[in-house]
Amino acid sequence: MIHLTINQKQISVPEGTTILQAAQQHHISIPNLCYMEGIHKSGSCRICSVEVVGAKTLMASCVTEVREGMVVNTNTKKVQDARKMLYQLLLSDHRQDCLHCQRNLDCELQQLGQQLGVTETIFETTSARTQMDVGFSITRDPSKCILCRRCVTVCNEIQGLGAINIQNRGFDSIIAPAMELPLSHVNCANCGQCTIVCPVGALQETDATERVWRALHDPNTRVVMQCAPAVRVAIGEVFGYPVGTAVTGQLAAAMRALGADDVFDTNWAADLTIMEEGTELLQRLQKMLRGEKVAFPMLTSCSPGWIKFVEHKYPTLLDHLSSCKSPQMMLGAIAKSYYATRIGVDPKKMFVVSVMPCTAKKFEITREEMIHEGLADVDAVLTTRELGVMIRQAGIDFCQLPNQSFDDPLGNSTGAADIFGVTGGVMEAALRTVYTIISGRPLPFENLHVTPIVGTEEIKEATLKLERLLPEYKALEGAEVKVAVTSGLHGAAVLMDQIAEGNSPYLFIEIMGCPGGCITGGGQPRSQDPEVRQKRMNALYQEDESKVIRESHKNPSIEAIYRDFLVEPCGEMSHHLLHTHYIARTVVLPEDVASKNKQLESNQAFVEPKQMHDQTPSSSLVQEIQQLQNQIKELKESEEIYKQIIADCSNRILHKKN
Ligand code: SF4
Ligand code: SF4
Ligand code: SF4
Ligand code: FES
Repeated sequence: MIHLTINQKQISVPEGTTILQAAQQHHISIPNLCYMEGIHKSGSCRICSVEVVGAKTLMASCVTEVREGMVVNTNTKKVQDARKMLYQLLLSDHRQDCLHCQRNLDCELQQLGQQLGVTETIFETTSARTQMDVGFSITRDPSKCILCRRCVTVCNEIQGLGAINIQNRGFDSIIAPAMELPLSHVNCANCGQCTIVCPVGALQETDATERVWRALHDPNTRVVMQCAPAVRVAIGEVFGYPVGTAVTGQLAAAMRALGADDVFDTNWAADLTIMEEGTELLQRLQKMLRGEKVAFPMLTSCSPGWIKFVEHKYPTLLDHLSSCKSPQMMLGAIAKSYYATRIGVDPKKMFVVSVMPCTAKKFEITREEMIHEGLADVDAVLTTRELGVMIRQAGIDFCQLPNQSFDDPLGNSTGAADIFGVTGGVMEAALRTVYTIISGRPLPFENLHVTPIVGTEEIKEATLKLERLLPEYKALEGAEVKVAVTSGLHGAAVLMDQIAEGNSPYLFIEIMGCPGGCITGGGQPRSQDPEVRQKRMNALYQEDESKVIRESHKNPSIEAIYRDFLVEPCGEMSHHLLHTHYIARTVVLPEDVASKNKQLESNQAFVEPKQMHDQTPSSSLVQEIQQLQNQIKELKESEEIYKQIIADCSNRILHKKN
């Protein structure tokens, strides 16, 4: 143990503890900004500076480890003045328009100002970083960026992507993709994990609330709303409920109170996904047994951040992906076909809104494969956070709402659907159904939980011995099937590298783009509490266990839609409405820049890949990027790109509305 004194208090802490941690452990608060426990400690903001007796300068407490006999003062005049000056310097390079900012009243910079007692701005604000980057999922506003680099750590080290980084030096420093390109032109997965950690309004989901309000206020539009499993165990936090409180009934009531004509549950489509994905797995197995060439392991396809990642990084392995659309897209497709016909509404007058824990879902609905004859499966995606904003805007007292049910026929779901929101849940739900189909018996795990794949570890695996199978599956008798689960793109890369090298021992792999799965998706309420993930996870497992029916194939309304409309899983109608394909993408490389500019001139927002590229930047590539960066600056092309992107987004939004 190390013995030291903080503010005249003698304390002992383990070796390797930082001054900040030591202080926190003994209830001494040191203001901080860029630091995130266990994730990010780059010492970039210096707000956590303290006086260490004998040291020549103030020390950043979040990166300075304690030493034996150290004497620390956290609250002297010198320290207070230094913190205030550092804060003023941050403000001097920050566009302060709190009244128009999405993060107003939920901003760590504002809270810090209050904590430090800053009541005026002493320097003129002169942020040089003025160009916005508005993508379908993520909006980047560099004029609000305080260069804390949390986003860089999350994108590089947690997600393993490196889509954004610090560009330039000194006053020209900016957090941006290479060449300061828009995020939509690089390998960004749209996961939104950077929007969770950004302390200010520099990175956030691209707002969809205005479009949804327009649809809700239009008497000629039939608004269908759906919500994902993970939303019900997180939206309560926005209204003061303890973390991990399931508010499913109030959520349904809130969507109805906002004015939705139909309130459906994405869980219903999760059950449908299991029918389609489980059947696809069995069809692949049957093909394999017949000696036909088929890609194994099969990979789940529910997470659009994961899909974009694999399209960029492993474009030659796309045939491993299940062809199933994600549940939100399935529900949209069924709403605009089966349900629209049933209620006699022109699907062109139907507006489907998904409430999702995920920012990547905003991009997913714009994919060309999800738009048929000019009609999108889903018209708008709200994050959990945005739904919270809309409920407040409408003056709805969420806590006083009664528990209501979702509407028929796309509202009934099983417990298997609830656990789609946690890492391992899709795999467990699929196994519950697939095992029963091939054996005629329930999944042989206590309480139907496949315990080896429950939890938050990065990579989990389970083995299932196939015994006493039904006659049509006898060829599989005695086989030991291995499955794997990962969440977060870092773990995904590990499992994908195994497949690329031909070493994967698995039959089926579940991959979710965000660490922990949808419960900690990029659109969920922000929290620094490390226990949040576990509490939300527990709540979803409780939802599952509270259901009478816990296997997707037993859902009566799923049985009904196959009987009345789809005919059979993976049949012709299903393939038309519920399945999709994927696109090989590349990171934008120098030779693409010229064609990108041409495409932008012709008003296309996205660069389609012309050819595959190695994803590992070589040193010559880095030099080329540098040269291009300079050229782009000289020619002011960047400015044009941003203008075109914004114009294009506006055009698309207006076009869709019309
Ligand atoms: S990021 Fe925070 S301080 Fe900056 S404008 Fe927005 S609310 Fe205000
Ligand atoms: S959305 Fe995800 S992939 Fe894109 S920059 Fe943010 S963290 Fe990186
Ligand atoms: S964008 Fe946000 S998280 Fe990233 S460096 Fe700027 S302020 Fe920090
Ligand atoms: S919080 Fe310690 S340097 Fe930013």
